[in-house]
Amino acid sequence: MKVGVLASGSGTNLQSLIDTWQRGALAPADLVVVGANVQGCLALERAGKAGLATFVLSHKAFASREDFDRALVAELRSHGVELIVLAGFMRVLTPVFLGEFPQRVINIHPALLPAFPGTHGQKQALDYGVKLAGCTVHFVDAGTDTGPIIAQAAVPVLPEDDEDSLRQRILTEEHKLLPAVVRAVAAGQVVVTGRHVDVIREAQSDAKSPTKLAEARLRSIDPV
Ligand code: GRF
Repeated sequence: MKVGVLASGSGTNLQSLIDTWQRGALAPADLVVVGANVQGCLALERAGKAGLATFVLSHKAFASREDFDRALVAELRSHGVELIVLAGFMRVLTPVFLGEFPQRVINIHPALLPAFPGTHGQKQALDYGVKLAGCTVHFVDAGTDTGPIIAQAAVPVLPEDDEDSLRQRILTEEHKLLPAVVRAVAAGQVVVTGRHVDVIREAQSDAKSPTKLAEARLRSIDPV
């Protein structure tokens, strides 16, 4: 399954996908292109170093979010992309984009959703005083971080934490969780029933039958 990654920043999650892909552990997912809305961001540099195709589309060059989304779709389609991974992509996608790739857009968020959606998830967790924080990989819907949850990983919040130390601890988990989910989605192991997402042992055409689904369901996603 051809995968396109969209990013806006440092691209450490992109790097974890690249590393996994380069050692052959992302298959049947295949990275084909990285798009960014910020010229010169580190994510683009990482993609270039890995020999991946890249494109830059600045949202500022478009009159509306929908026009921007149409241009994004065209770029991704020109590379045959079937699965889109938002890895620190700081733009909200409209139904114009999402309608083109139903249940084929996933995002990683640095909080245990539905707690602390939006920006600065780590700071929100610290300010609230929670004892556990973490990350979530979810399908993207038209809301902000509201789509069906595929997988989560938790980390402790330590008394001495500041935003940076908590961000790093969460990122370590992000870098394991995102490639594992990308591989599972590409392998057809991810079954969505309304808001509920099951990760199953192997792709099964009849996995939607409740008995088969119960038999095949994994307790957690396999690590890559
Ligand atoms: C990560 O914390 C991710 O969860 C959030 O944006 C950040 C991107 O970091 N969506 P990086 O660019 O992958 O280093």
